Amino acid sequence: MACRICSGPVHPFADFGSQPLSDAFVTPGDPGEEFFFHLAVGLCESCSMVQLLEEVPRERMFHAGYPYLSSGSSVMREHFHGLAKRLLATELAGPDPFVVELGCNDGTMLSAIADAGVRHLGVEPSGGVADLAAARGVRVRKDFFEAATAAAVLAEDGPADVVYAANTLCHIPYLDSIMAGLDTLLRPGGVFVFEDPYLGDIVERASFDQIYDEHFYFFSATSVSGLARRHGFELVDVERLAVHGGEVRYTLARRGARTPSAAVAELLAAEEAAALSEPATLHRFAARVADTRERLVRLLTDLRDQGARVYGYGATAKSATVLNYCGIGPELITFVSDTTPAKQGRLTPGSHIPVRGPEAFADPYPDYAVLFAWNHAEEIMAKETAFGRAGGTWIHYVPDVHLV
Ligand code: SAM
Ligand code: TMP
Ligand code: ZN
Repeated sequence: MACRICSGPVHPFADFGSQPLSDAFVTPGDPGEEFFFHLAVGLCESCSMVQLLEEVPRERMFHAGYPYLSSGSSVMREHFHGLAKRLLATELAGPDPFVVELGCNDGTMLSAIADAGVRHLGVEPSGGVADLAAARGVRVRKDFFEAATAAAVLAEDGPADVVYAANTLCHIPYLDSIMAGLDTLLRPGGVFVFEDPYLGDIVERASFDQIYDEHFYFFSATSVSGLARRHGFELVDVERLAVHGGEVRYTLARRGARTPSAAVAELLAAEEAAALSEPATLHRFAARVADTRERLVRLLTDLRDQGARVYGYGATAKSATVLNYCGIGPELITFVSDTTPAKQGRLTPGSHIPVRGPEAFADPYPDYAVLFAWNHAEEIMAKETAFGRAGGTWIHYVPDVHLV
C-alpha cells in the first residue's frame, strides 16, 4: 500500500482483522447488514506517518446519526473551555478576530467563543451533533472540511486567525486537501492548532484500542513536522496533553512566520531516542497487544465459569476494536453502561452486547466492570466510588490486564 501523505511504501505492523464501524450501534431486531472492513495499521518507511491500510468512506462514519458527544465528559468540557479562554487571550486578542473549528461536534469548545462574542464558524458534517451546536448559539456549517470548503468559507467570512481541530484531523485521510484548505483560509500570520492521540503514548501504553475506523492517522512530532513541511507549513509548538489517554496539541504556522519553540526540538529528539518510528518498536507493540488479548479473554472466560457478573463501562468507539478483536460478546459481558442517549437501547457494533443507561449499572452493581472508557478513569472513579464499596472490581486492559 502507498502512503496517503507521500506515496512511500507502508510497512504493516498490526492486524485486527475484520471490524465493524466503531460508532454504528445496532438496533435490536434490525435485519440490516453491518458494514465490516479490514482494520490493520502500518508505518510509512519514507515519512514515518502511521496510518490505516484501508479507508472507510467518510459518509458511512459521519452522518446525521453520528452518536459521539464531546460534552459527555466533564473533564473534556473543562479542557475545551480552558483552550477557548487561552485562544481568546492570545491568538484571538486582536481586532475582529475569526476562528474556525473543524469537527466542532456539539459545540462544546465554540460555545465559549460564541459567549465571548467573537466571530467563529464550526465546520461539522454530522448533522445531529451540528444541530446541538447550533442550539447552543454556535454558527455551524454542515459540511466536511476540505479545500473547496475552505474557499467557500474564505469567500463568505474572510481569512481566519486560527483554525482549530480536536480529535478530528486524525479522522481525515485526505490531508493534502486539508493542508491546501488551510493555506487558503489562514491569514498570513495565522495558526492551525490541532490535538489528537499521540503515537508515543499509544506505543508506551499498548493502547491498541485507539486503532479503529475513525482514527486513520496516529501522529507524532516527527510525522507531523514532515507533513507540515510538504505543504509550506512548519511545526512551531507542541504540548503534551493528558486527555483521551495521552495526546499532543500541535501548532502549525506558515514556514518562517514563527520561531519554533524549544518543545518541538525536545519532542523530536525524544522520539528519535525512543526509536518511535522504527519497525522493531512497532512490532514489539503488536506483540504486547496480542498478549493483552490472550489475558483479557482468559480472565473473562474464567469469571464466566465462576458465575461472576461482568458489565462493561463506556460503550466507547475504542471498545469496538477490543470486543471484536478479542471475540468478546454478551456471553462474557452482560451489558455495557453508557451515558450517551443515542447509544442506549442499542447493541455494540459487531459484538452485539446491549448498551444501557448508567442507572442500570448500579441496579445491582456487577462483581466486575471492564473499564472501556479508561481515558476518563479519574472522572469515572470519582463518581463510582459506591461500586467499589459494594465489593465491585474494575478490570483494566491498558497498559496491561489488571484488576483495581
Ligand atoms: N472535536 C470534538 C472533540 O474533540 O470532542 C469532536 C471529535 S469527534 C471524535 C470527530 C468529529 O469530526 C465528528 O464530529 C465528525 O463529524 C467530524 N469530522 C469528520 N470529518 C470531518 C471533516 N472532514 N471536516 C470537519 N469535521 C469532520
Ligand atoms: P470517548 O472515550 O471516545 O470520549 O468515549 C467515552 C464514552 O464513554 C462515551 O460514549 C460516553 C461514555 N461515558 C460514560 O458512560 N460515563 C462517563 O462517566 C464518561 C466520562 C463517559
Ligand atoms: Zn509517507
